Amino acid sequence: MCGIVGYVGNKNAQDFLISGLKRLEYRGYDSAGIVTLSENGEATLLRAKGKIVNLEEKLLENRREDKIGIGHTRWATHGEPSEVNAHPHQAGKIYLVHNGIIENYKELRRHISGHDFKSQTDTEVLVALINSFYKDGEYPLANAVVQALKLVKGTYGIAVVSAENPEEIVVARSGSPLVIGIGTDETLLASDASALVGHTKRAIYLNDGEVAVIRKDSVEIKTLNAEPVSLRVEEIETNLSAIQKGGYDHFLLKEIMEQPESLAETLRGRINAEDGTVRLGGPGLSAAELRKIKHLVIVGCGTAYHAGLLAAYYIEQFTPEITIETVIASEYRYRNAYIPEDSVALIVSQSGETADTLACLRSIKEKGIRTIGIVNAIGSTIAREVDGGTYVHVGPEISVASTKAFTSQMIAMVMFGLTIAQAKGVPAMMLKNYVEEIVALPEAIRETLAEATEPVKEIVSNYVDYDHAIYLGRDTAYPAAMEGALKLKEVSYIDANAYAFGELKHGPLALVDDRFFEMALLPKGELYEKAVSNVQEVLARNGHIIAITNVEDFDLEVESVLRISSKIELFAPVLMNLVMQLFAYYVTIGKGYNVDQPRNLAKSVTVE
Ligand code: AGP
Repeated sequence: MCGIVGYVGNKNAQDFLISGLKRLEYRGYDSAGIVTLSENGEATLLRAKGKIVNLEEKLLENRREDKIGIGHTRWATHGEPSEVNAHPHQAGKIYLVHNGIIENYKELRRHISGHDFKSQTDTEVLVALINSFYKDGEYPLANAVVQALKLVKGTYGIAVVSAENPEEIVVARSGSPLVIGIGTDETLLASDASALVGHTKRAIYLNDGEVAVIRKDSVEIKTLNAEPVSLRVEEIETNLSAIQKGGYDHFLLKEIMEQPESLAETLRGRINAEDGTVRLGGPGLSAAELRKIKHLVIVGCGTAYHAGLLAAYYIEQFTPEITIETVIASEYRYRNAYIPEDSVALIVSQSGETADTLACLRSIKEKGIRTIGIVNAIGSTIAREVDGGTYVHVGPEISVASTKAFTSQMIAMVMFGLTIAQAKGVPAMMLKNYVEEIVALPEAIRETLAEATEPVKEIVSNYVDYDHAIYLGRDTAYPAAMEGALKLKEVSYIDANAYAFGELKHGPLALVDDRFFEMALLPKGELYEKAVSNVQEVLARNGHIIAITNVEDFDLEVESVLRISSKIELFAPVLMNLVMQLFAYYVTIGKGYNVDQPRNLAKSVTVE
């Protein structure tokens, strides 16, 4: 998820572009750049790796009084963070910034001649393609853009300028948001309205399939088929923080609700339902190397650890002759654990900066074991030090409590397990259900969030005043219960702990009394009846049970039932986790606590 800004007007373009990029840095960045044009078309292109402050330093020696320009913060998808991969990209007199993924960029690249490619990005292919239509003189810039976009498959939000015409910016979107700000003798552009706050209250939200030509005193919008589009000017909310939350009250709810899209980004280009295959390029392991793997060590902390625990349950279901251990990084780094040579270590971290996980990574590498990162933050320390890896691409996770990262990390590890199974010759028929459910999961997540929100809100008032909770599950529902308990614990401060249902009789059952409520995960499956027996044991002690279940005819006499109607069965615990995320959020709201910044915690634990 990148950030785009643009300016054309009577003020200094560089000033708006930099301030706008800073407003968008919550969208994440690993590099940034701007280009501005003087009245006679002289271009000043500045790009820098890392934080926007690095770009500002370059500005010190390159101040211009230019009145038009575009800028970009990059959340890398194709090509690692670097100055050469930073936007804007150039072809001839044309400069372009892009948010999204051009899926057929390799095919398009074959259409282009006479362009000296400098970067590894899909974006440079797009600007070269536009230039190939433009330089023939056949098309003004907007038409060249349209001709090129008609060949593109994928998602884009783009802003394009030409040094031959330093009065206009061409803007287009399909899948990546763009908003046009209408000022006095100036027109502004941004990926979201937060960059426009304080400059204008009037905005036009571009729709998919629309192309706009913006000048300092005019905006003209057409569809890709040249049909004119009427201008829909709306009022911008002035609360900056609220806008960055996309209209949600808190980042936590925003990040819970964006999981259909964030998981889709994780899957994009990596899994094929038609032929049932998974392709992960990042780990960099050949089929022969994948076949040799006999042991997996999965390393993480907190939610990342839970993602590994759950992934391990799945991987061992379909990958033959492989042992898996999931370990807490802060413990494992001090153990003298033997790791067999035919092992691979999965290093799981949203931030890619967690000190204990990083220390584990380094000690495992010293033992000569191949390390694969399952990381979100592009260019983070862990991402740079592993031997290979799979970015989960969920966009920045701002709320301290991790939600969308868990879902994507867990599925990314299952996909890694599927690549091992494929390499080991496991028949596609055996993996088909897993692949089909993973492909269907983003939509199932959307359905579950929609159907669970109101029922969760209806019951939370019954549980807000509890100080203790027990979360229970069997098999794949057990690691999910652990993650659910952590979520509740870390935002509501309710002392929630998870136990395997089968462990109840070995001690935890003694806890059951009116001080506790119980969250019971009851997915369909061969262990359902066993779990029901365990629920009966709790009911017999007057437990206050909330059941989360996808069993249509569920009729146990429990206090609350949260139903999941999705047909997803293998990954039902992933959907149950969404319900527990919502539960933790609404209980905490009910308590009036700061749900995005819980006491005592930090988003990234970079100290030991
Ligand atoms: C999760 O909600 C917590 N905020 C915390 O446990 C987190 O998962 C843990 O600190 C690991 O962080 P990482 O994924 O960035 O390494």
